[in-house]
Amino acid sequence: MNQNEIRIGMVGYQFMGKAHSHAYRDLPFYFDMKVKPVLKAISGRNEVAVKEAADKMGWESYEIDWRRLIEREDIDVIDIVTPNHTHAEIAIAAVEAGKHIITEKPLALTLEEAQRMYDAVQQNNVTHMICHNYRFAPAVQFTKKLIEEGRLGRIYHFRADYLQDFIMDPQFPLVWRLKKEVSGSGALGDIGAHSIDLARYLVGEFKEVVSMMETFVKKRPIGEMSGGLSATSDDTSSLGEVTVDDAVAFLARFENGAMGTFEATRFAGGNRNKNKFEINGEKGSVRWDMENMNNLEVYFGDDEPGLQGFRLINCTEEIHPYTGAYWPAGHIIGYEHTFIHLLYEFLNGIAEDYQPAPNFEDGLKN
Ligand SMILES: NC(=O)c1ccc[n+]([C@@H]2O[C@H](COP(=O)([O-])OP(=O)(O)OC[C@H]3O[C@@H](n4cnc5c(N)ncnc54)[C@H](O)[C@@H]3O)[C@@H](O)[C@H]2O)c1
Repeated sequence: MNQNEIRIGMVGYQFMGKAHSHAYRDLPFYFDMKVKPVLKAISGRNEVAVKEAADKMGWESYEIDWRRLIEREDIDVIDIVTPNHTHAEIAIAAVEAGKHIITEKPLALTLEEAQRMYDAVQQNNVTHMICHNYRFAPAVQFTKKLIEEGRLGRIYHFRADYLQDFIMDPQFPLVWRLKKEVSGSGALGDIGAHSIDLARYLVGEFKEVVSMMETFVKKRPIGEMSGGLSATSDDTSSLGEVTVDDAVAFLARFENGAMGTFEATRFAGGNRNKNKFEINGEKGSVRWDMENMNNLEVYFGDDEPGLQGFRLINCTEEIHPYTGAYWPAGHIIGYEHTFIHLLYEFLNGIAEDYQPAPNFEDGLKN
């Protein structure tokens, strides 16, 4: 290996495959780094499709079995962008072969699986990360800074909604995301896990929770994801059972005494990817919404009377985390940049021998 290269092998190549591939390609363009990612190989079960994906996304080669990717000596990192039931087997095999590892969220199907994955990275001394990319929106990173500086004081409330609507049509097929044996859970693990990660990052550890779940559409036609959050069905007459939650709501108490209220649903009509939170502290509040991800609403209780209220900050100034690598202030960035920032930390962690976060420990706690 060229000392300055980190050679990537990626398992899967659809929605998240595209996001990760793009991020590896853009990283050296925007950021000065000691290392350069090399898009060595991807794997997928369908040779025609995986070859086409490799060509389109700029990968040097492909394999039709992920095990072969792990055997290859010209690969340093395994990146897992396949459905949740595959994460544990692939990750454990990869780290036992000495590869650094990054996997999409949620870490695993069960707590037991997640524990085995965490034990494996500990025993094999590799760098590990889980892809909770929303932490890496500059406005979220800036919120963390405000909290650490004590600008909000003691935190009283963390209030998060993650609202989508892509499965509301009862004819939307029974894809892997709706089968418990493949996904582990529904809205909870698919999108609620991101809110849980933001809460742990910004407020701290959970102490206790109480929740309710609902599945509104209990049977659907059999079908497959077809890229992004779209799906297709060849046979709309035979129905299968939905075995995960369509929606979840829960209350939480944090170890530091703050209260949390959470909602995650894929039945909130009109909300395409409304991942938002509000934090209320003794000295101030912040509000963030992924659909306007560059903006942060901030309120400080010690502002002059008469001028008090939420102010809108466009987090694109050079002083805001990561944004100096891009454009002049006001020239906004987007969804794909959250992945660039996360992979920047991952590759730097490997190059400079530190363990970045969020990692498998965060995935296990989540
Ligand atoms: N970070 C985020 O915001 C985010 C967003 C979407 C999905 N995800 C996560 O990313 C992962 C992949 O989701 P996606 O939306 O990209 O899915 P997808 O359905 O778009 O793509 C899945 C890929 O895995 C392959 N695959 C499916 N089953 C496989 C198997 N048994 N063995 C090997 N390959 C298999 C498919 O061919 C495809 O390339 C999931 O864990 C999901 O929870 C994260």
